[in-house]
Amino acid sequence: MDDLNNRVAVITGGGSGLGRELALRCADAGMRLALADVDEAGLSETVSLLPEGTDVVTRLVDVSKADAVEALATATYERFGAAHLVFNNAGVAVSGPTWTSTTDDWNWVLGVNLMGVVHGIRSFVPRMLEGGDPGRIINTASLAGLTSVPGSSVYCVSKHSVVTLSECLHHELTAMQSKLGVSVICPAFFKTGIADSERNRPAHLADANPLGEEYAQFVKAAIEAGRLSAGDISRFVMDAIGEKRFYILPHGGAIKQTEVRMRDILEQRDPTNPMAPPA
Ligand SMILES: NC(=O)c1ccc[n+]([C@@H]2O[C@H](COP(=O)([O-])OP(=O)(O)OC[C@H]3O[C@@H](n4cnc5c(N)ncnc54)[C@H](O)[C@@H]3O)[C@@H](O)[C@H]2O)c1
Repeated sequence: MDDLNNRVAVITGGGSGLGRELALRCADAGMRLALADVDEAGLSETVSLLPEGTDVVTRLVDVSKADAVEALATATYERFGAAHLVFNNAGVAVSGPTWTSTTDDWNWVLGVNLMGVVHGIRSFVPRMLEGGDPGRIINTASLAGLTSVPGSSVYCVSKHSVVTLSECLHHELTAMQSKLGVSVICPAFFKTGIADSERNRPAHLADANPLGEEYAQFVKAAIEAGRLSAGDISRFVMDAIGEKRFYILPHGGAIKQTEVRMRDILEQRDPTNPMAPPA
């Protein structure tokens, strides 16, 4: 899809961080927008930043709920009659040792980060295939979906799942010579609200890892120190989409870390800690 003008972008997590910046880039390209989030104020702020005249619909959606994502798809098609770029981007993070992570940690993070993407695919891909237009599903994973970070197993499992889910979807759509493509975004740390994910944690999943704080502080510092901004990442992503690229790794260092992990596997040696200072 070369010309995005007047096409339709759907963005989950559109109320903050990367989702907001993607909304701005898509609007700059003349796209019509369906923005979803659990944060109503965040969505309103995003809308207030869009260029005047942007055709946008917002919806409060908890992506961990299949029926809520299905309602988003229904609303998008009622309003615009199509979807061309679907960004399954909403995400949350928890920290702490694997053995003290709680079932609430697992249910919350996998519910949003993994099932949110699954629901997006299940609700949008059939409609997009039926519509027949070219389009793309862009799933936000993470460098944590390509490496294994101590103190982040719950998050890493969710993001590794998004990478393999995206790869499977790519193979399926390619085999049927579909006009739909897939991309998976795998950034390292960049500054957004992700370190403050607990703000979106539902009360019924409130039991957090009792040893999470020390790791959370480390993640917070790494995010604050992020070299690229969410704006930078969004521009990199839009360029990569233009090139129909599947793997999108905006940070150069992420490529090196991924290579080290791949080598560990191929040479059947112990895994290298990606957080350890270089020897
Ligand atoms: N910031 C980083 O360092 C980093 C690195 C790699 C990947 N990512 C990924 O980027 C994506 C965007 O996160 P961000 O960094 O912009 O953080 P962010 O917290 O600024 O934005 C995430 C958005 O998702 C929304 N959200 C949370 N739970 C939701 C739910 N159940 N349903 C719908 N929306 C929900 C939040 O309200 C928020 O607006 C996430 O998938 C995250 O895992 C972030």
